[in-house]
Amino acid sequence: MAVDPHALFEEWLAEALLAEPNDPVAMALATADAAGRPSVRMVLMKGHDARGFVFYTNRLSRKGDELAANPRAALLFHWKSLRRQVRVEGPVEPVSDSEADAYFATRGRDSQLGAWASDQSQPLDARATFEARYQEVRDRFEGGEVPRPDHWSGYRVAAERIEFWNDRAHRLHERRLFTLEADGGWRTSLLYP
Ligand SMILES: Cc1cc2nc3c(=O)[nH]c(=O)nc-3n(C[C@H](O)[C@H](O)[C@H](O)COP(=O)(O)O)c2cc1C
Repeated sequence: MAVDPHALFEEWLAEALLAEPNDPVAMALATADAAGRPSVRMVLMKGHDARGFVFYTNRLSRKGDELAANPRAALLFHWKSLRRQVRVEGPVEPVSDSEADAYFATRGRDSQLGAWASDQSQPLDARATFEARYQEVRDRFEGGEVPRPDHWSGYRVAAERIEFWNDRAHRLHERRLFTLEADGGWRTSLLYP
């Protein structure tokens, strides 16, 4: 059994990549506003290492507003085919501009244009308005590279608590919790299911 939760996460992720029919890197992202009211939505994990878990989004979205007011988040991976879940909690920091640029450059052109066209989380009067905006940015960047919009970037959830949940027979599920110590090491323990 790995004692580093990030290494264990990579082992479970590798199995999920083989087992899940779609979106094995999808995770629920929970944030809360300044008053502590929670909200949750799915995002795709686009990077993971010992520093944390990275996702990309519109910084002016509802989640972006909440993270500006309260820079902490919880993540949940649920790999249904494997009957496993991983819970992650910790403070959130923006990724560097160069990291966001590098990832943005790997996205398909349609997704890059979409990042310009979508006022994510703002009210939309009609689908046609969005389509017209998409057309407008397509024309604007015709023949050239699409730069990353300032408002589109990534966040890193710096895990300080990671829990691995494994289905076991007779509902005797297994829960292994890792918590980050002040010295940077991880403490591991079991939890009742
Ligand atoms: C499987 C899945 C993956 C998604 N991945 C992302 C993502 O990586 N980034 C993103 O901004 N929205 C993603 N979305 C859309 C979000 O769930 C959400 O609708 C959007 O980000 C607006 O959320 P907000 O209003 O709370 O900010 C995804 C949705 C699904 C169902």
